[in-house]
Amino acid sequence: MKAILLAGGSGSRLYPLTQVSSKQLQAVYDKPMVYYPLTVLIASGIREICLISTPQDLPRYQSLLRDGSQWGVSVVYREQAKPEGIAQAFLIAADFVGSDDVILMLGDNIFSGGDDFRRAVTGFMGGATVFAYHVKDPERYGVVEFDRTGKAISIEEKPLVPKSNYAVPGVYVYDNGVLEIARDLKPSARGELEITDVNREYLKRDKLQVWRLSRGFAWLDAGTSSALHEASSYIGTIERRQGVKIGCPEEAALVRGFLSIDEFEALIGHMPRCEYSEYLRGVASEWHRLHGEQR
Ligand code: G1P
Repeated sequence: MKAILLAGGSGSRLYPLTQVSSKQLQAVYDKPMVYYPLTVLIASGIREICLISTPQDLPRYQSLLRDGSQWGVSVVYREQAKPEGIAQAFLIAADFVGSDDVILMLGDNIFSGGDDFRRAVTGFMGGATVFAYHVKDPERYGVVEFDRTGKAISIEEKPLVPKSNYAVPGVYVYDNGVLEIARDLKPSARGELEITDVNREYLKRDKLQVWRLSRGFAWLDAGTSSALHEASSYIGTIERRQGVKIGCPEEAALVRGFLSIDEFEALIGHMPRCEYSEYLRGVASEWHRLHGEQR
């Protein structure tokens, strides 16, 4: 399975922060925002990633993520010239997707806890899998309605009167049929190719699976200045309490076996002395302890 990581948009709700740096490059506690979805992809076992961003921001992502080989993955880049909707990603990256299945992740979605996405990717059987998460303010999102048996029966984009409290987070797993569905989409009233319309098409074809994320799972929004601050403090609280980092691509790559311990340690060697590299040194020591090798 391949992955598209979408980091577009103008970030207008984060003005003036976004005047000099794109939204998905803002700091969420101790890392750039895009590290969080990127780490979810690596932890899910994905090795081929296409990052899509605006022409002005793309060079910044390229200097941050490079070709991905430092994490044992491949990252390629495509431009979204105009913000014409999330589903446009499938038109932009069609050549990259080829004949594969694809997971689309939005670069501003931050998750913590559970391995639901990895399980959804490894157990994917075709059609589409999307997720549902209970929120207080569903009207800000795609909203899914379930019948009494727990089957999804409708999905609506930012409804004025939501039919449930279940929002659809920005992680979508599709079979290759998504390319053709995206090609046939018409822009919505707000002039965008809506990801919700893609999901509605799968629902119509009875090929949409909706996976409910459990209560203990955290899905954080970082779209406004106060939400960004809250996301930072949430991540900081968990990291300080547990002594483990969320959204650390190096660690995920080691755990997945994308990097050997030697490659992992060489990578740390290129980092400045800081909290982040100290943490990774701790991860390496623990790896040696568990694997019975002392250095
Ligand atoms: C987009 C999608 C929406 C989804 C949300 C998740 O909203 O259109 O269905 O629930 O991402 O972050 P937007 O970020 O465009 O407001």
